Amino acid sequence: MKTQGGSDAAKRRAGRRAAADVEDGSVVGLGTGSTTAHAIEAVGEAVADGLDVRGIPTSFQSRRLALAVGIPLTDLDAVDRIDLAIDGADRVVDAPGADAHGALLKGGGAAHAREKLVDAAADRFVVVADPSKLVDALGAPVPVEVLPAAHTVVADRVRDLGGDPELRAADRKDGPVVTDNGNLVLDCDFGSIDDPAALAADLSAIPGVLEHGLFVDLADATYVGTDDGVEVREY
Ligand code: A5P
Repeated sequence: MKTQGGSDAAKRRAGRRAAADVEDGSVVGLGTGSTTAHAIEAVGEAVADGLDVRGIPTSFQSRRLALAVGIPLTDLDAVDRIDLAIDGADRVVDAPGADAHGALLKGGGAAHAREKLVDAAADRFVVVADPSKLVDALGAPVPVEVLPAAHTVVADRVRDLGGDPELRAADRKDGPVVTDNGNLVLDCDFGSIDDPAALAADLSAIPGVLEHGLFVDLADATYVGTDDGVEVREY
């Protein structure tokens, strides 16, 4: 689930710091959420100032914003590489020395399938976050995007793994959240997740699962916006 804390000023510092890494002539992955929105806006300003860049959005939301701020867009199958992906997270494990250091939980906005596709394809993946996202270990429910026909059988397999799945309900629509890909989301509570890599593998192996929100060994860095600056974690 999305965290409710975190100041917009801190998110803005993180987002704009990451946007400053976008190089002329590059392809950039454009993540989803309120923190990445600041990065997209900053890239748009740079484009207006002459930066040559092409963006690959990860959601309807990031596509709309990128178009609004004037970033030329392309697609994953139209490029040889993505130089940099910038994306937010719902939780970031901040535990130097632990195996899970730098692991992420994403999908609070139900965009994690395309986010993982783009983030994993990038040469460098930078997470933008505020301090409210930092945790010692993952414990929040894991969003799992499922094919609509598979939601009950996937829920059964999640229970077999010790999880408690809940079909994500829409706020301003009767029935469930439907993702940008036309699928449903099960938020799966596993309690404290001691081994995110193992759970990620187990979830990926369930037929009918399109993608889950555990991002393990994918991030290259996290830029944490604070009250007065940006802290950089390199992994
Ligand atoms: C989208 O599904 C999520 O993975 C977002 O990237 C995540 O929720 C971060 O969003 P905020 O920056 O709004 O917290």
